[in-house]
Amino acid sequence: QIKGFVFDLDGVIASTSIYHAKAWHQLADELGVTWTDELGDQLKGVSRMDSLELILKAGGKENDYTQEEKVKYATKKNENYVNLLSNLTDDDILPGMKDFIEDLAAHNYLISLASASKNAPKVLEALNLDKYFKERVDPATLKHGKPDPEIYVRGAEILNLKPEECIGVEDAAAGVQSINAANETSIGIGDPEVLKAADINFNDTSEVTLENIKKAMA
Ligand code: G6P
Ligand code: MG
Repeated sequence: QIKGFVFDLDGVIASTSIYHAKAWHQLADELGVTWTDELGDQLKGVSRMDSLELILKAGGKENDYTQEEKVKYATKKNENYVNLLSNLTDDDILPGMKDFIEDLAAHNYLISLASASKNAPKVLEALNLDKYFKERVDPATLKHGKPDPEIYVRGAEILNLKPEECIGVEDAAAGVQSINAANETSIGIGDPEVLKAADINFNDTSEVTLENIKKAMA
């Protein structure tokens, strides 16, 4: 029986995945790495330093920079990203997600956050959703990022639930892999081809309702 939901943030609750992509695209251009939609999809859900490694690898440049230079580039991307967040408000909550979260709370489902982003507290605050996410996995404490199961395992643990009692909600292939490896039920929101490993697929956040989830699990 499902008792809790473990949420990704960027691209699931907040429209911020486009800002992450914009800032990475800009850095890729600067590094002379060709940006593709496939690369953009690969970066979703992946930590800051791991994302930079994927970009360098895509351009065959993984051995071209020192660790210090890599940190400098990742920091630059983050400064760009944080600038793009400056006008974020509750208008940037993706369609239907506020209602969905409120509905979960009203039905006594437990809720936690499993975002890889160190900017998650800032984003939740700007969206005025922090009160629903008292339980959060701090990505700074993780040994392994998505697709490793660690973040979703911890997302269930902080709710005192077993993984089988949780549904994980993701827009990223790496995230769906993480949920599945953690033995939770996975919801993938977005291109069903990219997210084909998910137990339940929705094309759009507006389709994510308790009713539709119950139907899909029946
Ligand atoms: C999320 C996003 C990724 C981002 C990662 C780290 O998972 O989907 O695009 O790279 O968080 O975010 P941060 O804000 O810590 O750089
Ligand atoms: Mg995401």
